[in-house]
Amino acid sequence: MSTPSRTTDSADSRGHVGRHAISIRNLKKSFGSNEVLKDISLDIDQGEVVCVIGPSGSGKSTLLRCVNLLEQPTSGQIFVGDDEITDPDVDIDGVRRRIGMVFQSFNLFPHLTVLDNLTVAQTKVLRRSKSKAREAARHNLERVGMTHKESAFPAQLSGGQQQRVAIARSLSMDPELMLFDEPTSALDPELVGEVLAVMKSLAAEGMTMMIVTHEMAFAREVANRVVFMDGGFVVEQGPAAEVIGDPQEVRTKSFLHRVLNPMVIEADEVGDEGVRDIG
Ligand SMILES: Nc1ncnc2c1ncn2[C@@H]1O[C@H](COP(=O)(O)OP(=O)(O)OP(=O)(O)O)[C@@H](O)[C@H]1O
Ligand SMILES: [Mg+2]
Repeated sequence: MSTPSRTTDSADSRGHVGRHAISIRNLKKSFGSNEVLKDISLDIDQGEVVCVIGPSGSGKSTLLRCVNLLEQPTSGQIFVGDDEITDPDVDIDGVRRRIGMVFQSFNLFPHLTVLDNLTVAQTKVLRRSKSKAREAARHNLERVGMTHKESAFPAQLSGGQQQRVAIARSLSMDPELMLFDEPTSALDPELVGEVLAVMKSLAAEGMTMMIVTHEMAFAREVANRVVFMDGGFVVEQGPAAEVIGDPQEVRTKSFLHRVLNPMVIEADEVGDEGVRDIG
């Protein structure tokens, strides 16, 4: 497969001609004079799992936040299904209801039980009856393996359990797709696996997912596609085994080298002076 097709058109190169769940066209986003997203075009198919990787500050979170309109793009278009969400007349709340978002911090209400955390938005936003909301909540607690904790308060749960509850809360709104921004970064290492396992099972159920993560083993195993961003651009994308296992671009190689070998201090990163200082 040639590099250009990997960088521009991986969905088609996989022979996948489905309806796009998300279509991003020439997206740019600036904060003042700082152009953070420089020209992003990306299609995500229904049921596809796309992991977005890249160095700190490359624009990964900003990209996700544009997709659910937590940030207003400076220019370009974003479609969710057939609907252009960057249309100035769009119903922003309506768009957000269709998209689940899970952040590094769980943001559960501390004064509500797990069950109430899951029902509150359903009754207020979706206007579901209390009993329907509880039914959906229990179904989704089961999906994340947290049925036994429905009466607990967030402070009584581990970080991993809280994040699983946060995922169940998102799922209870029946989203068409889910965005995850480093969902395991705040967790103690021994709790990461249980959250990744829940995300893996969602992927197996066919949920469309866009996931910013530093978990390369997870990306390799679960993602249909890995997108490497640097400096506000998509530098390289393709099947996980190719982008992570055999990156083509220098910037991808150097990022992966740093992520996969965190203990290695490269002489060219430290510089001559640094090496002397260490010596
Ligand atoms: N609300 C904001 N106002 C001003 N600048 C912002 C804002 N949000 C992000 N930025 C800037 O945009 C750039 C990209 O930030 P972003 O959070 O998208 O990066 P990231 O790839 O998610 O990084 P990390 O891996 O550290 O989370 C950074 O230079 C950041 O300072
Ligand atoms: Mg980020």
